[in-house]
Amino acid sequence: MAVGIFDSGLGGLTVLNAAQKHLPDVDFLYYADNAHAPYGVRNADDIYQLTRKAVQDLWARGCNLVILACNTASAAALRRMQEEGVPEGKRVLGVFVPLIEALTERQWGDNSPPREVAVKHVALFATPATVSSRAFQRELAFRAIGVDVEAQACGGVVDAIEEGDMILAEALVRSHVDALKRKMPEPQAAILGCTHYPLMADAFQKALGQDVQVFSQGDLVAESLGDYLQRHPNMLGDGAGGFVTTGKPSFVSDRATQFLRRQIAFEAA
Ligand code: DGL
Repeated sequence: MAVGIFDSGLGGLTVLNAAQKHLPDVDFLYYADNAHAPYGVRNADDIYQLTRKAVQDLWARGCNLVILACNTASAAALRRMQEEGVPEGKRVLGVFVPLIEALTERQWGDNSPPREVAVKHVALFATPATVSSRAFQRELAFRAIGVDVEAQACGGVVDAIEEGDMILAEALVRSHVDALKRKMPEPQAAILGCTHYPLMADAFQKALGQDVQVFSQGDLVAESLGDYLQRHPNMLGDGAGGFVTTGKPSFVSDRATQFLRRQIAFEAA
């Protein structure tokens, strides 16, 4: 009985960690496409092909529900996969909507017309592919009016995290926050729109200042998943939990163990 969680690499572990804490009785099968990370510098078709292959693999391993714990895949591939149709009894969901619902103070699944919300100036930090897709702004426009979003493509941060070079990652975060602040000097809220970035949450908060409310996806996605599974218990699937990677299992396991501060053992996908 496992729910599939997919990311290009290690970032989705931030979602997995929150989901495991929130739903201790649910097994998760985590799929990291490390061999092809980072996705954020690829074109939309490439991201779609890679994402579809990974999701089909998770479905084949018995997962009924797959969470794209990757904003880049959610932005570039989710809609196309859903429009092309998914097999009977299977679902694939992304990570944007729970975040936007929190930002716009909505209950899950509230589809009422867009309305004014408290927050007016929002900084979005994401990969180049997510920023150029404008998927975040599109989803936000369905729910809120009068929100000014300034997006900053954070080149290099995912590569540095995947390589375990946290000093470089921190320096890049500072320079991307500076670049954002030149365009929007006083954001009220900041969205960490890439699941790798919560691993650098302290660096973002420090560079932005304590007055800026920083939203990251782990807990929000975990809570919304709990709500979804209560309404759709058949989506638990029948596969076993675990960790698979298209990369080198020993290297990926070491990095994951370091990030989650507990022993994680990946197997070859
Ligand atoms: N962690 C992913 C995201 O949320 C993708 C990062 C990448 O592969 O560029 O966007």
